[in-house]
Amino acid sequence: VTASVYPVAHPGELELNLADPQQIGEVFDSAQPAWILIAGAFCHVDLCETKRKNCFNVNVAGPKRCAELARQTGATVVYYSTDHVFDGTKERYSESDAVQPLNTYAESKVAGEEALRAALPEGHLILRTSWLYGPDPARKNFPIRFTDRLRAGEKVPVPSDQWGSPTYTEDLARVTRFLLEKGARGTFHATGPDFLSRGTLAARICKSYHLDALQATFVETDQLQQPAKRPLRIRLNTDKLAAIGAPPLRGVTEGLKSLRPVALEAAQS
Ligand SMILES: NC(=O)c1ccc[n+]([C@@H]2O[C@H](COP(=O)([O-])OP(=O)(O)OC[C@H]3O[C@@H](n4cnc5c(N)ncnc54)[C@H](OP(=O)(O)O)[C@@H]3O)[C@@H](O)[C@H]2O)c1
Repeated sequence: VTASVYPVAHPGELELNLADPQQIGEVFDSAQPAWILIAGAFCHVDLCETKRKNCFNVNVAGPKRCAELARQTGATVVYYSTDHVFDGTKERYSESDAVQPLNTYAESKVAGEEALRAALPEGHLILRTSWLYGPDPARKNFPIRFTDRLRAGEKVPVPSDQWGSPTYTEDLARVTRFLLEKGARGTFHATGPDFLSRGTLAARICKSYHLDALQATFVETDQLQQPAKRPLRIRLNTDKLAAIGAPPLRGVTEGLKSLRPVALEAAQS
């Protein structure tokens, strides 16, 4: 559950709807959190183009409300953001580089970041990440979904011209904890160390899990005719994270090995 508050004093879980400012206030009153980690988001990049208002409610207004409430209580807010705040025209991006969002989803994440910096200048942590994958029970990330589809005998189109840095979710969680415990604040880039194309990642998954690579068909992003424009090649510079002593994130070889038991278990029907 990515958008819940876990109150330390009251074990349990409270649902928090980022699109409902009043309910966010009620959850804060009840839970009195010291740390708020906002991983929940409106992430369907194409749907964001037609559901702009919903997208901004969830990705901007909700996090802004959390930040305003946190300011009153002295709490810290972590906002998970994306490499897509950039357009990919530069070789490698540092935290201080100018953003250049190409679609509504990316615009909303930029606006979410700005809302946090404005409402909670001393108490926010923004972690920009990329191509998340890990042992997700919902089996929604690329390596698991790709594996499920191949094992179901499907032909799977893979955009061969998109490049990124696969990031193992458990490592991102570990990094988040490290930064919070260290009292770090501000913006950090947090991705895995490898930079590769979606096609190469697909081939690595096939090799690692002994799947039939011929079932993957490589296509150019343009051929997919998706409503939202996508940056094709974004590499984040993670030197700032390394310099503060954060635990290293695992590369693809290690990540696929860690994911193997979950990836190869039968998908729920
Ligand atoms: N996945 C990536 O490769 C990637 C890359 C860069 C950054 N990020 C960022 O990382 C975070 C997590 O991404 P993800 O891939 O895990 O996204 P995801 O799989 O699409 O999950 C989004 C989560 O947000 C929840 N959510 C949606 N609307 C909500 C609302 N109104 N209130 C509370 N929660 C709501 C969803 O709950 P339901 O399932 O119940 O709808 C879901 O659990 C996001 O902030 C995203 O921008 C992801």
